[in-house]
Amino acid sequence: SQYNIALIVGSLRKDSFNKKLAHALTGMAPKEFTFTQVRIDDLPLYNQDDDANQAASVKRLKSEIQAAQGLLFVTPEYNRSIPGVLKNAIDNASRPYGQSAWAGKPAGVIGISVGAIGTAMAQQHLRNVLAYLNVPTLGQPEAFVQAKQGLFDAAGNIGIEDTKKFLQGWVDQFVAWVKIHNA
Ligand code: FNR
Repeated sequence: SQYNIALIVGSLRKDSFNKKLAHALTGMAPKEFTFTQVRIDDLPLYNQDDDANQAASVKRLKSEIQAAQGLLFVTPEYNRSIPGVLKNAIDNASRPYGQSAWAGKPAGVIGISVGAIGTAMAQQHLRNVLAYLNVPTLGQPEAFVQAKQGLFDAAGNIGIEDTKKFLQGWVDQFVAWVKIHNA
């Protein structure tokens, strides 16, 4: 069968390392996996007053999540947590109460930062949020990637051999996780 994965990148930056990492990871997945990056840059700031009348962009995000067989979060760490734009997207698609788009969707969490801890704190915060939203999140392996020279080759693939092997292992486990939860 076919698996469509909603790709959620926590950075809006044009030259985002996380966007690049996401692209490299999707290239490591088997053919039956397709990835569609969902837009989060045009969502309103979440306001509970709008629950009964959600913006078209919020409805679009919710239907994209609902149609997906899995979720791939690739996010930077901002001030030892997840970026506000990512939390805003999660909040928007979690409401109205009882109509969350997230529940039950198997997820992987990964990220890249310029700092040595490679988004570890952001990932931990994200796991906390996803646990509440009833999103089964791959526990192992964890992957904390640090941006360095040569990490991405000219084609956008991972250019460091042992990192490439490690991330291939991560993708393989993510793929297995999605399959288990859609069986
Ligand atoms: C950062 N950065 C950062 N890095 C980190 O490892 N831990 C952190 O807590 C933070 N905090 C932080 C806050 C803000 C507001 C910014 C703009 C940046 C640096 C971050 O890793 C770097 O900017 C990455 O390039 C962001 O990811 P993208 O946009 O390249 O995907």
